[in-house]
Amino acid sequence: MSEMVDAPDGGRRRILTGLRPSGPSHVGHYAGAFSQWLELQEEYESFFLLADYQVSDYADNLPWIRWGLWEVTLDWLGVGLDPNISHFVIESGVPEFAELTLHLSWFLGLGHLQRNPTLKAELADLETTNKTVPVAFFNYPVMQISNILLPLAHLVPVGEDQLPHIEMTRDVAIRFNRRFGETFVLPEGRVGEVPRLVGIDGKGKMGTSAGNAIFLKDSEETLRAKVRSMFTDPKRLRATDPGTVEGNPVFMYHDAFNPNIEEVDDLKARYRVGTVGDVEVKDRLFRAMNAFLGPIRERRADWESRPDDVRDVLAAGTAETKRRAEPLLEQVRSALSLDYLTDGPPPAPEGAP
Ligand code: TRP
Repeated sequence: MSEMVDAPDGGRRRILTGLRPSGPSHVGHYAGAFSQWLELQEEYESFFLLADYQVSDYADNLPWIRWGLWEVTLDWLGVGLDPNISHFVIESGVPEFAELTLHLSWFLGLGHLQRNPTLKAELADLETTNKTVPVAFFNYPVMQISNILLPLAHLVPVGEDQLPHIEMTRDVAIRFNRRFGETFVLPEGRVGEVPRLVGIDGKGKMGTSAGNAIFLKDSEETLRAKVRSMFTDPKRLRATDPGTVEGNPVFMYHDAFNPNIEEVDDLKARYRVGTVGDVEVKDRLFRAMNAFLGPIRERRADWESRPDDVRDVLAAGTAETKRRAEPLLEQVRSALSLDYLTDGPPPAPEGAP
């Protein structure tokens, strides 16, 4: 795909990604997103967005957002996203996102938005719970588009369900560029390899408020208890019964978090024939996950003990994003002729009375 605009600083290619800060992150976030971001930040200049404008029920959730934003920031620092090379961005700290959203909303048809499968599903959800659909519901996809276009991101790491959003983003950028000249980079989506992790209850995907999550900040004791309580093969009553590995959450977690492939293969083989108990499988899973989460926990706690430094990280990333956004916004405003005072009185358009 050809790029329409070069990096303004002639520097590295950029990514923009992020999440809605509604609470602490769990190991599903790590497997599905953060692990990929960690690799990408080495190669791309990275903007990690805390999308506080986009938390649903915005006004009802303010205390949760304030808290969640801090929690997510600590999680990011804990896993090793590096504020020395990447930008942590508070969305509402860059009002240019909001302004660009307003401008771009003229370049996306409501029909296109309503055909987006994710939005369609969310809208149906909203309507069945009998709530009024706030106008913000239609703003938020445009807000995402502006999140991506404002830092001129080349690449957007996302979940598969978000790909239609990238398509809409390209569409808007193409339409704008065609009309006003090269302004925005056409971004591409990158889907991670790991599908969404199932919750410890085995019932559905892991969710922050679903009561089925292992959080990155969970203590060793909490982790032990959660792993012990994990759902396994419900048809298996005794350790000597042959068990099913496929679709068994305990083994999905082994695959995702236990680097000792030999151990995992051995456990799977013995599970299938009924020569290993759930207790041992879980105990080894606990040990593997604890070895993985231990350093994250420590780094997180270290940052947590230095709240001023955390605040500095957020302030710096947000300020840098704003600094970079301003010239682009100027360009957009003048493309849209929103620069009334730069020239003298305008000539009357043809046919003016
Ligand atoms: N909607 C994403 C989420 O679920 C967060 C987000 C906001 C985002 N803007 C974005 C992701 C832009 C990628 C690109 O939580």
